[in-house]
Amino acid sequence: MSTALVTGATSGIGLAFCRELAERGNDLVIVARRRAGLENVSDELRARHSINVEILAADLSKRAALRRVADRVADRDRPIDLLVNNAGFGTSKSFLKGELADEEAMFDVLCRAVLVLSHAGALSMKDRGRGAIINVSSVAGFVPMGTYGAAKGWCTAFTQSLAHELAGSGVSATALCPGFTHTEMHERAKVDMSKLPKVMWLEADRLVRDCLDDVKAGKVLSVPGVQYKVIAGIAQVAPRGLVRALSGRASSIRRPKR
Ligand SMILES: NC(=O)c1ccc[n+]([C@@H]2O[C@H](COP(=O)([O-])OP(=O)(O)OC[C@H]3O[C@@H](n4cnc5c(N)ncnc54)[C@H](OP(=O)(O)O)[C@@H]3O)[C@@H](O)[C@H]2O)c1
Repeated sequence: MSTALVTGATSGIGLAFCRELAERGNDLVIVARRRAGLENVSDELRARHSINVEILAADLSKRAALRRVADRVADRDRPIDLLVNNAGFGTSKSFLKGELADEEAMFDVLCRAVLVLSHAGALSMKDRGRGAIINVSSVAGFVPMGTYGAAKGWCTAFTQSLAHELAGSGVSATALCPGFTHTEMHERAKVDMSKLPKVMWLEADRLVRDCLDDVKAGKVLSVPGVQYKVIAGIAQVAPRGLVRALSGRASSIRRPKR
């Protein structure tokens, strides 16, 4: 039995992590902005499993709220054994057409929050000689796909570097790089995904189970789905000019909703 802290726990991939970890008997600390959503998740999980669920309502784009979550991660009297940095969102507008404030909030959640919480988690886990960090990145991080893709590229590179620094400490770091997954994210970003072929969709519960297997196997990169393993593999070795040209065409599948 151990304790996992999951950010973005109220829907999609974060909720799937909470359900799977609760099923496996872990206590949970769940983080998101909306307290009502967190209370629903807590009620659901405590009704089904004999576990403790602690609620932390926090907007990770705000420094003071992020600090509160980092302090909870670092609390040595109530150790966190698994940290899942999952909270995130995308935008429908391109960099030059959108608001800079929205871009900054996305950057703060996708990068700064991951940096600050990984720092708190890695230090306290390293002291105890055990623990795991999962940073939910994206296959978009392997290709030039707007500021979202750039932030995820940072997340993947950062997690690989963290894993290297933690080698031999008993603590692991894994970047989970999903492709398009059925969650609330695209609806919330007001993006029309109707042009995406069915074969490209992933299911959150399956990818979470695969990711936890990858963590157990000591993998630093977890890319769910054969189709995305192939894409990620090619993107990492193909000439950059070709990758840029193909990712430009692939980006057109995501259209702002009218
Ligand atoms: N869905 C995909 O196709 C896909 C593909 C690759 C990677 N990902 C990544 O997977 C992760 C989870 O996304 P999802 O698809 O599961 O999206 P989702 O269903 O929209 O869930 C996002 C979660 O993050 C929370 N959140 C959003 N902004 C936050 C903030 N400022 N502070 C704290 N919590 C915040 C949301 O709750 P509140 O609104 O209550 O805060 C919610 O719990 C993200 O990092 C995303 O980039 C998704």
